[in-house]
Amino acid sequence: MNTIKIGLFGFGTVGQGIYHVLGQAKNAHAEIKRICVRDLSKPRSAAVPSALFTDKPEDILDDPDINLIVEVIDNPEAAYDIVTTALRRGIDVVSGNKTMLARHLPELIDLQRRHNAALLYDASSCGSIPVIRNLEEYYDNDLLLEVKGILNGSSNYILSRVFDHGESYSQALDRARQLGFAESDPTFDIGGWDALFKLIIITVHALGEYVAPERIFTYGIQNIHDADIRYAREKGMKIKLVAQVAKVSDTAFTMFVMPEFVGPEKYIYSVDDEYNGVVIRGECYDRQFMFGKGAGSLPTASSILSDIMARRHHYRYEYKKMAYLDRPAYTTDVTLRIYARYRTTDIPAILPFRKITEMYISEGSNYVIGDIQLSDLIARRSELDAPDIFIANLSRFFSDRDVSR
Ligand code: HSE
Repeated sequence: MNTIKIGLFGFGTVGQGIYHVLGQAKNAHAEIKRICVRDLSKPRSAAVPSALFTDKPEDILDDPDINLIVEVIDNPEAAYDIVTTALRRGIDVVSGNKTMLARHLPELIDLQRRHNAALLYDASSCGSIPVIRNLEEYYDNDLLLEVKGILNGSSNYILSRVFDHGESYSQALDRARQLGFAESDPTFDIGGWDALFKLIIITVHALGEYVAPERIFTYGIQNIHDADIRYAREKGMKIKLVAQVAKVSDTAFTMFVMPEFVGPEKYIYSVDDEYNGVVIRGECYDRQFMFGKGAGSLPTASSILSDIMARRHHYRYEYKKMAYLDRPAYTTDVTLRIYARYRTTDIPAILPFRKITEMYISEGSNYVIGDIQLSDLIARRSELDAPDIFIANLSRFFSDRDVSR
């Protein structure tokens, strides 16, 4: 069996993890031939031969000996250039860059087909949990109804520390950064964007549909307040940042990212710290639950290793569901029941609730619980960033299908 010769782009948290994991993986028959970094002068571990490093992408892209590119850099634009150049030259790529993938998947799928090159990216979504390949292969049928879960380790870590350990939000965020879970710009994590990008990738493999980021309602945890935590505790619940894609009928599906009140009967209630949890629901098999480390150097590197090995066996995503007949269409015409806490902003005036089921007014803070169309939330999205507002989903049924876990 020929050795896989890897050109590695990026030597940050994940890149170093890959170096370590490949050193242990005797059966991988894979070696890192070159590592391209942005700043050659940065001090590196003495354990890594300095001759491996370069700051010139062409030292990898032009090397005929390199037969696999592994791209784990931070910058999505630079990642796009590397990945598209490699695919156009027929070189296979493993990538962990969810931002780049979520923005460019249709083009990247086309490039793979036209140039007969493969792009694998299980590491991009939920770190060590093998979500993508399972959705693509095992769930290659019409039964799948919903994929829902905690897809961002950093925000889950912060919420866990705040809920279970009484830490302050900013302490917990600092710790998530130190531990290497958070993005270089952590607003990506806490604003829900990281979970959104993963959800977009997951949806391509779950339902064969690509939906662009700007069409999807995304709301993070940055405005969470003691009052929200108190409310959740009083009800025996936690607040989690949840991403979901769900069929709402035979012909339509919806998707969104927002905080959600989660009771102890739900699988994701006990998904804490940087762990991710994904509930897959379908006809006939009902619910299945995947749990694992969603962030961090070695968990993510383990997923990259799995993609490297998959490529050794010539595995590629076939995007089979994109060719399915009668694929469901994306809709935002669904009713959600939400909790909206506010102080000075007049939430009942801004949000066109169809029904209000509970309202609480006090001097310190107010909240309203009611039913609202997802399309109305999208239309008022920019107003919901006001710092005195926090909204969260109360999980409930879409149509007659129980999607409550
Ligand atoms: N910042 C991401 C997270 C890293 O916290 O989940 C893994 O994608």
